[in-house]
Amino acid sequence: MATKKKSRKAAGKTARVEVVNEVREKAKAKAKGHDSEHEITIAPAKGKLGVMIPGMGAVATTFVAGVEAIRKGLAKPIGSLTQMGTVRLGKRTDGRSPKVTEFVPLATLDDLVFTGWDIFEDNMYDAATHAGVLDQRLLDQLKPFLSSVKPRAAVFDHNYVKKIDGPNVKKGKSKMDLAEQLRADIRDFRKTSGASRLVTMWCGSTESYIEATAAHQSVKAFEKALHESDDMIAPSMIYAYASLMEGVPFANGAPNLTVDLPVMLELSRKNNAPICGKDFKTGQTLMKTVLAPAFKARLLGLSGWYSTNILGNRDGEVLDDPVSFKTKEESKLGVLEHILQPALYPDLYGNIFHKVRINYYPPRGDNKEGWDNIDIFGWLGYPMQIKVDFLCRDSILAAPIVLDLVLFVDLAQRCSELKGIGIQEWLSFYFKSPMTAPGLYPEHDLFIQLMKLKNTLRHLKGEELITHLGLEYYD
Ligand SMILES: NC(=O)c1ccc[n+]([C@@H]2O[C@H](COP(=O)([O-])OP(=O)(O)OC[C@H]3O[C@@H](n4cnc5c(N)ncnc54)[C@H](O)[C@@H]3O)[C@@H](O)[C@H]2O)c1
Repeated sequence: MATKKKSRKAAGKTARVEVVNEVREKAKAKAKGHDSEHEITIAPAKGKLGVMIPGMGAVATTFVAGVEAIRKGLAKPIGSLTQMGTVRLGKRTDGRSPKVTEFVPLATLDDLVFTGWDIFEDNMYDAATHAGVLDQRLLDQLKPFLSSVKPRAAVFDHNYVKKIDGPNVKKGKSKMDLAEQLRADIRDFRKTSGASRLVTMWCGSTESYIEATAAHQSVKAFEKALHESDDMIAPSMIYAYASLMEGVPFANGAPNLTVDLPVMLELSRKNNAPICGKDFKTGQTLMKTVLAPAFKARLLGLSGWYSTNILGNRDGEVLDDPVSFKTKEESKLGVLEHILQPALYPDLYGNIFHKVRINYYPPRGDNKEGWDNIDIFGWLGYPMQIKVDFLCRDSILAAPIVLDLVLFVDLAQRCSELKGIGIQEWLSFYFKSPMTAPGLYPEHDLFIQLMKLKNTLRHLKGEELITHLGLEYYD
């Protein structure tokens, strides 16, 4: 009896060791970028990629005009990781650093075709002229192309963007009817443009702050709410629903909930249409996610961070409304809390005063000025101050982000590993308020985000992940 027990115990131990070994092997294979259980496949980027943009304002026109200027050899794609970035592969001594475009199969700029929706009737040339971001001489060289991109009628609700109103708006019996009209637009663009793949990129105004309700919890509840024209369904959600129903990935450049909802995650996974968001990380928050990790790395304390902006474009005007600003404020405020982890470092970050303000100041147009006053403290609690004055150009910083998101989201949809997972957290690098799996806190540190992005590319291509351990150089 005792021998039987012993041998059963031994057998159990062997089985456990085998399981542990198997898990270890899998982890090792994963760390090397290989997953023996399924080979990762990426379909080639064949044919045209159609880019559909709700909101043809400053960011959208600066992006589209920029792509055309670059295609014509008039300018360079500065700020774009897909166009100018490289990925180091293997050891530091290997000398292998291909360009991103040589490493993963991305659509080329020549493959891109565009359409958009807006509440104003201006074509892309007129809208870009109105936005006043790019030099008129450059826009004039691109006029025939830009004038050909005309806005489709928008799905709009003045209650969600109180500062603007326009004539180019769809009418419908219900919100479901409006969603059907958007789906018809998408099918029409797919057919007339000859695009083999599509991506939707929200560049519309920031909508009023709302929180998710029961209507957003499942596809079934959302569709019922669409039929009932539920007030809690914002226009951006109707675009998102229409896109995902058509199997089209959706990236959200504004802080609205839009795709950050259980219903959209469900649809995204079901239809293999990746989603990501929210809110492009451009000026002040870009700086915040560079500086805050530095303070934390050196264990310098923080007592206050006061951020203020003056901004004179239409985005600034929309954000002058407190309910739209509240959406933006939520998106901007989360950053410090997540990077500094006050619960882990109460002496350093347990009592931070963090304030963010945006002031509409028309004379500056798109050329925002962002000031930061940062009160930090060091050894024995001695206080110090840092002042940042960033005279930036909002849409110039946003346009390369739009380009990279369009190309990477399309890559995700062609990739066996990524297309069915829903949220593309590896694209957090581009967002102020990155979407994550439910219950997971977002990673805000810009350099961790970059490492995550590049390691994802390495993983997809079966290359070893880079951990920066580096002990092998000292063997
Ligand atoms: N520029 C940046 O650096 C930056 C950074 C982060 C986020 N964003 C966000 O990106 C978005 C675009 O910024 P922008 O500077 O281009 O603003 P913008 O005001 O120039 O353009 C937004 C456009 O969206 C249109 N619009 C509003 N609701 C719409 C709807 N339901 N359907 C179709 N069109 C609609 C407006 O008419 C306008 O033309 C904003 O939400 C902004 O907060 C911009």
